[in-house]
Amino acid sequence: MRRKITVVGAGNVGTTAAQLIAEKGLADVLLIDVIEGMPQGKALDIQEACPIWRSAVKVTGTNDFGDTKYSDIVVVTAGLARKPGMSRDDLLHANAKITRDVSGAIAKTSPEAIVIVVTNPMDAMAYLTRKITTFPHRRVIGMGGVLDSARMRSFIVEELDIPLQDVQAMVLGSHGDLMVPLPRFTTVNGRCITEVLPESKIKIIIERTRNAGAEIVSLLKTGSAYFAPAASVVEMIENILGYKNDIIPCSVYLNGEYGVKGVYSGVPVRLSLQGVEEIVELELTEDEKQTFTASAKAVRELIEKIVLKKG
Ligand code: 2OP
Repeated sequence: MRRKITVVGAGNVGTTAAQLIAEKGLADVLLIDVIEGMPQGKALDIQEACPIWRSAVKVTGTNDFGDTKYSDIVVVTAGLARKPGMSRDDLLHANAKITRDVSGAIAKTSPEAIVIVVTNPMDAMAYLTRKITTFPHRRVIGMGGVLDSARMRSFIVEELDIPLQDVQAMVLGSHGDLMVPLPRFTTVNGRCITEVLPESKIKIIIERTRNAGAEIVSLLKTGSAYFAPAASVVEMIENILGYKNDIIPCSVYLNGEYGVKGVYSGVPVRLSLQGVEEIVELELTEDEKQTFTASAKAVRELIEKIVLKKG
């Protein structure tokens, strides 16, 4: 029996994720949006590509949340994207309202689902999704670290002009301006990046990683990135469904891990059909711990704004 994945929001990220899920034949896909006809049209278009991809999955679109019932995984991309000059945090109140509505609908229609949250500011939206759905924390997971780590890897590859598979990068913390790129856990052919690049270059790469989302927003002018975010969602799905079994950075609920309690933040995890299978605690230096704690504090401040202020 093929799994069922619902993608909420048929914008660029949602549609690209739906396309990748279908192209890889991972699961049947249901694309849902509020705009009449739009998810149906995009889903039909993806379905019509499946013969070329030799993919036997079913791809459908709907405006009716009832059609999403009994989904195994629900990917939430619904919400506004930022415009040039905006931070992800600027989307807080508008996207909190959408996230509340979507989370309530998911709880009613797919009470056993794993939820992957993409909507920004993602860590706070993941916390809100968990609160509204009342799902076990392990079944609500935010997509951020996979994207940020991929970006850091691509910048290192660009700098060193080396094959991609030789580079591993680890970015923890929030998917925001206070994300925590970790050079100590970033390697080139197994060697720490600090042995391969001068500190000045590493600083530039870290800064570019922090601003990578904004860099694309400023180039596109009318929206934010979607190919890499969608690919990052699908990387998480492949790990949840067991096609892969890697340790990847995702935003999860911390209950004391890394010295942080009661917020969502990006840490290395193993995923499974039960959601978060394992949180891997890296030994951080005092500096790294401080940066991580500051990142989590910023997420907590966002959460307090939305949990206190209904909206
Ligand atoms: C990004 O970093 C949209 O948050 C996403 O591009």
